[in-house]
Amino acid sequence: MCGIFGFVSEDKLNVADIIIDGLKRLEYRGYDSSGLAAVINSKIYSRKQSGRVFELEKVISRSIKSSVAMGHTRWATHGKPTNKNAHPHCDCTGRIHLVHNGIIENHKELKSKLEKRGHIFKSDTDTEVMAHLIEEFSKKYSFEESVRLTLESVVGAYALVIISADAPDTMIVAKKSSPLLVGFAENSKFVASDVSAILPYARRVVYLHDGEFAVITPSDFRVATLDRKKVFRSQELIEQSPVDLAVHGFLSAKDEARKNNFPHFMLKEIYEEPEAVENAIRGRLIVKDGLAKLGGLESVEDKMKRLNRLIISACGTAYLAGLTGEYMLEEYGGMPVEVEYASELRYKKQLFDARTALLSISQSGETADTLEALKEAKRKGVLNLGLVNVVGSSIARETNAGVYNHAGPEVSVASTKAFVSQLAVLSLLTLFVGRQRGMSLVMGKRIASELSTLPEKMRRVLKEAPNIKKIARKYHKHGHFFYLGRKYNYPVALEGALKLKEVSYIHAEGYGAGEMKHGPIAMIDKNFPSMIIAPSDSVYEKVVSNIQEIKARNGKVIAIATEGNKEISKIADDVVYIPKMLEMLTPILSASPLHLFAYYVGVMRGYDVDKPRNLAKSVTVE
Ligand code: F6R
Repeated sequence: MCGIFGFVSEDKLNVADIIIDGLKRLEYRGYDSSGLAAVINSKIYSRKQSGRVFELEKVISRSIKSSVAMGHTRWATHGKPTNKNAHPHCDCTGRIHLVHNGIIENHKELKSKLEKRGHIFKSDTDTEVMAHLIEEFSKKYSFEESVRLTLESVVGAYALVIISADAPDTMIVAKKSSPLLVGFAENSKFVASDVSAILPYARRVVYLHDGEFAVITPSDFRVATLDRKKVFRSQELIEQSPVDLAVHGFLSAKDEARKNNFPHFMLKEIYEEPEAVENAIRGRLIVKDGLAKLGGLESVEDKMKRLNRLIISACGTAYLAGLTGEYMLEEYGGMPVEVEYASELRYKKQLFDARTALLSISQSGETADTLEALKEAKRKGVLNLGLVNVVGSSIARETNAGVYNHAGPEVSVASTKAFVSQLAVLSLLTLFVGRQRGMSLVMGKRIASELSTLPEKMRRVLKEAPNIKKIARKYHKHGHFFYLGRKYNYPVALEGALKLKEVSYIHAEGYGAGEMKHGPIAMIDKNFPSMIIAPSDSVYEKVVSNIQEIKARNGKVIAIATEGNKEISKIADDVVYIPKMLEMLTPILSASPLHLFAYYVGVMRGYDVDKPRNLAKSVTVE
């Protein structure tokens, strides 16, 4: 992952103001350390600091100006998040500095060769090897050729920005697998990992492609491939509103104000869940005809009629949305579905045929595992569909067709409103596909009309917040949790467990409630509570039996149940009620209480729930 930001300008710009602002917008990509470097009077000024970007702010000079500068915010892969491992990294002479997003897989062998030639390494990173390689090649070649030869020598993924005190007007950037783009303003050019950092300065951009590098000076911009072929890339105009911009999850001091009166973005975004669903379904439902209108799929509608298999590929919370989608699409859509971790799918033998499609789900649209799995499937000629939140993101651009979920900006690292909006779009997709293949008008109308009532019902669920907070207070000191559900609410149980782990660092395991008795139940005692999702649906009686099994072993039970169910309050220790809803759509109602519970527990345990340790909003390494 990591975020990269830099500029090359005809003017001398204030380095601290611009680079720090850019890094804050990219901080969601990693926030364990950061650094910057700028060319000043043919020397390099460089500072780096562990911790968040505001820590870097404290150690840099506020007044320096430069025409060539770059910064980096890190999510550690190789080497602990310390000052010495923060980027930029430099060669032995201190004249070549670079920042990197990605992983250099052959760094060990390159490092040992360079050490034999007398190079002294200062960090534990894979990145530093490239600075020394450039130094080594520079003994014979120009800066540009040294960078090119270095890129030819390394194996792995990179978005790279390199500056040299010996070429004070020049910045070289390169891309393979990790995202990088260049923005063009009147007197300046900006480079960044994603468009959110560039848009305040420039709307015309060039996305570099894999295997390309660019040489940028105040008066020039040249792109070439590693085998020296010139490339012409025309500039794209990004027409994004401030809201779209914010979808990228960036934060600046001004954006902090967007928290309104909420103490954390996570809480604000949970409260935005009804609106996120409203936005996902707006203009896409024709209730009277029982139809879903998905404009982004119109171009492939006929191909979709012929599909006999849909593979959903995603990571983390988006994967759990996909698992829920499998239940919906198979039961109501009549479409056979397999759901795969993108990180596994890429390395599996992919047995696709002409009637298979891949659906990649991603909030950020930048997750490396999802993107790479999609590219692999693309090579095999499969129809590629996307369900993405961030407009214009890499996954959105790579897919043949798709649907945006329009959840709005998700700033908190833990995904909440994106999850419910992904479920809403998967419900629309179920209706879309189902009506293509035999779903009756009556069922179509039922799903469409229930879907349209969701936002209002979700708002009712949020009124349970004081009750959920009380329950969180009762349980927040426990060290372990089970999350259980069946059928549609099994993936939601996994989502509840994931969220608790992420923001409260409590050990939580999600299981299909029926699976408990096959092993995990051995762990149950009075100190091991279970959160059980038990709406009045087709598996309710079975889930009640599972609750009884836990109670018989002194386990505490918090149940999420349907309004009006008095029976459950007699067996569960605590109950949160959700409105009655078509079974397929209950996960959209049961998710919010789980998100709120994780939030309150995390806050009660004293953690920064918006930026949990070790995580990043957009995971751009495999
Ligand atoms: C969980 C979470 C992660 C993401 C996962 C995929 O709260 O945020 O598990 O869901 O990294 O990210 P996207 O959806 O951006 O591809």
